[in-house]
Amino acid sequence: MTGPAPLHTDTEGVDGGVGLTALLVAAARAIETHRHDSLAQDPYAEHFVRAAPACADWPVRAEQAPGGDDNPLWGRFARYFGLRTRVLDDFVLRSAGTGARQVVLLGAGLDTRAFRLDLPSGCVVFELDRAGVLAFKQRVLTGLSAAPKARRVPVPVDLRGDWGSALTAAGFDPAAPSVWLAEGLLFYLPGPVETHLVDTVDGLTTGGSALAFEAKLEKDLHAYRGSPIYTATREQIGIDLLRLFHTGPRPDSRGDLTARGWSASLHTPFEFTRRYGRGPLPEPNDALEGNRWVFAHKPSP
Ligand SMILES: C[S@@+](CC[C@H](N)C(=O)[O-])C[C@H]1O[C@@H](n2cnc3c(N)ncnc32)[C@H](O)[C@@H]1O
Repeated sequence: MTGPAPLHTDTEGVDGGVGLTALLVAAARAIETHRHDSLAQDPYAEHFVRAAPACADWPVRAEQAPGGDDNPLWGRFARYFGLRTRVLDDFVLRSAGTGARQVVLLGAGLDTRAFRLDLPSGCVVFELDRAGVLAFKQRVLTGLSAAPKARRVPVPVDLRGDWGSALTAAGFDPAAPSVWLAEGLLFYLPGPVETHLVDTVDGLTTGGSALAFEAKLEKDLHAYRGSPIYTATREQIGIDLLRLFHTGPRPDSRGDLTARGWSASLHTPFEFTRRYGRGPLPEPNDALEGNRWVFAHKPSP
């Protein structure tokens, strides 16, 4: 099987490079939405996939994928994204329930939490991503006449630069508690950029704030190059995740946060598969083996 030609990697929108990964997650959410036992419902996800020429032939239901649920990409990997979506939905809702009225989505992509979640009144959701990704998202949502359930503020930025001032200029208040997500983001950024991002989050948060992020612990990501998930993603949709990930040394962001007084717990996704009753379980040559979800809280003074 030769598969599609490699996609260009320097684009700002969703038609290639890391922006296209936002559509990969949207397609997985569309598939999850249509499952009879779905963990998260995202009625917008399918519309993003259908609106983007780059993924015109991608499935939005498991039965449209070759092999259905046994397809490593649209079965197991999509289940992973469905579980991650639900776990982080619950994290945001819990944090909002304990007082955080500002939600910051770092690398928001096609996240529709501002439209889907029943957040307390007065909540505002800041969505940070590149301008091209946010413009595509807005076009689709406007076409659907979608109405957010919380005030929503898109903030076009490059997270490798000084995005903190763009966020405060957009109305974010560092003196009020906030909840932050870096979902499927940090491994696309160089290590020093991740360190700067975590520093910036710490500098912009007060006690009572929370941050959830996803990390990959593998020392050598390429050891998993032949794993079914990476192989299927490359061959079926032309996304070579290992070429998009930054494979240099990673910082210990959890350790950096605890050194600054945060509490931070580290979990495998498989723990949540067991807790929620569905999702991926470990398997041999598993690209998900090193994935960890970190939940960090800054104590109130
Ligand atoms: C895998 S997607 C995840 C999107 C979303 N968090 C989700 O889980 O659905 C990664 C996102 O990070 C964004 N991203 C990667 N590098 C970025 C950068 N330097 N500046 C802004 N956004 C970036 C991409 O545009 C993309 O939308």
